[in-house]
Amino acid sequence: MTNKTDRIIIFDTTLRDGEQCPGATLNIDEKLVIAKQLARLGVDIIEAGFAFASPGDFEAVSKIAKIVGTENGPVICSLARAIKADIEAAAEALKPAVNARIHTFISTSDIHLEYQLRKSRAEVLAIAEEMVAYAKSFMTDVEFSPMDAARSDPEFLYQVLERAIAAGATTVNIPDTVGYTTPSEFGAIIKGIIENVPNIDQAIISVHGHNDLGLAVANFLEAVKNGARQLECTINGIGERAGNASLEELVMALHVRRQYFNPYLGRPEESQEPLTNIDTRQIYKTSRLVSNLTGMLVQPNKAIVGANAFAHESGIHQDGVLKNKLTYEIMDAQLIGLTDNQIVLGKHSGRNAFRTRLKELGFELSDTELNKAFVRFKEVADKKKDISDWDLEAIVNDEIQQAPDLFRVELVQVSCGSNARPTATVTLRTPDGEELTDAAIGTGPVDAVYKAINRVVNVPNELIEFSVQSVTGGIDAIGEVTIRLRYESKVFSGHAANTDIIVASAQAYVNALNRLYSALQRQEKPEEVSAQKV
Ligand code: KIV
Ligand code: ZN
Repeated sequence: MTNKTDRIIIFDTTLRDGEQCPGATLNIDEKLVIAKQLARLGVDIIEAGFAFASPGDFEAVSKIAKIVGTENGPVICSLARAIKADIEAAAEALKPAVNARIHTFISTSDIHLEYQLRKSRAEVLAIAEEMVAYAKSFMTDVEFSPMDAARSDPEFLYQVLERAIAAGATTVNIPDTVGYTTPSEFGAIIKGIIENVPNIDQAIISVHGHNDLGLAVANFLEAVKNGARQLECTINGIGERAGNASLEELVMALHVRRQYFNPYLGRPEESQEPLTNIDTRQIYKTSRLVSNLTGMLVQPNKAIVGANAFAHESGIHQDGVLKNKLTYEIMDAQLIGLTDNQIVLGKHSGRNAFRTRLKELGFELSDTELNKAFVRFKEVADKKKDISDWDLEAIVNDEIQQAPDLFRVELVQVSCGSNARPTATVTLRTPDGEELTDAAIGTGPVDAVYKAINRVVNVPNELIEFSVQSVTGGIDAIGEVTIRLRYESKVFSGHAANTDIIVASAQAYVNALNRLYSALQRQEKPEEVSAQKV
């Protein structure tokens, strides 16, 4: 093994580090849906979770290992602290995967050693070596991370890495855990490692970084120039605090500027060979799926996948783009899977046309999912004349969303207007199958609906985010509602799409309440083990 691969390895941690951001909690089926899409996107490694953290995390890793970790599929990875029980849980959960990796870590910065681990450098050195060797006894592919590497004493970092590689680590990952470094500093750290770790040629150098100063992507690109060959990133850059380095930004930077990066990977400057294995046309769809399922909205001006990323507002820009796209566009929107094919289906389209278009869009639905989505499509087509690809995506994402089906919205009725007090009546089907109806007055129709729902569900919570976005233009557009609510210190998200935004608002809210309700039910189970998230 050598760190001189001639391409960049994409390690996706959306399901592990990405899922750690407040409210992004996904259930097992949702994680599986995302993992399948990540495989279609072409990521090399999926960090599917932290198997020891809870039985739910264990099951998610194991299910993804079984279903997505096939012969030609990505490597499936589980995180594990440098602790035997963690490593054993990771190895067990990963058993069904054809290609599996254990990613074990321990902090190396003095500040972590003194205040968090309360261990000496000598102890950390011994633990790192011993636990990498232990992970190696289960599988050949082992990654080691010295947590907070970017703030660690370089000499100590070199020693730890050397010992970890000698013990069998095939990838050494350099985390900027707190998002502190600048690009030239991060590049220098990688250069220092290559120059000072004698056996570094036996491992791939990986980088992991958080975006506290908005520098994660820039840091990674500098790391690539200095010899890093694996990038740990997440879809839409979600993750702890300000998030992780964003996969779509890294991949498109390496794609659009490949002539700049080629020489750093030992390729001729003019080579057109992609630098990663990513199918860039799957980027937009993956971004929407992750945003819908996690409830983490993508800001409109977000690079690559934001709603405005390819929009030209100024007259001068519009004029230029009409004459020649290259005047103001450095990449074609089709490259990330945005199609010009706006109007595709309508009320008279049959199941076959529906299935075919979904297939073209890359959705592989089971018969049950397809049937459910087709019923929704017909309902929408009754209200909306032309159904675009974006509408189809909203319908399918909504249908395959796997929030636990505990409470269900049966009826929503509102009365409001300039001279009326906003009043709502809702009927919900409870988990026991009972239909309960209640009504409330609010400051507006959505507030009235939420108050009526709260009277039925009766779990105190605070609404902290409410957003409506229209999927396409036009008065009959589908509205997507994303909400986040807080219960004690936990945040839960909900998402729904409907041509009626009041109905979508009710469904999104019930969706989030269902997640909260099922978390409360799980808390009551004594066997639930909870490990600290990292
Ligand atoms: O940010 C970090 O340091 C991590 C490690 C577990 C790799 O997430
Ligand atoms: Zn991290």
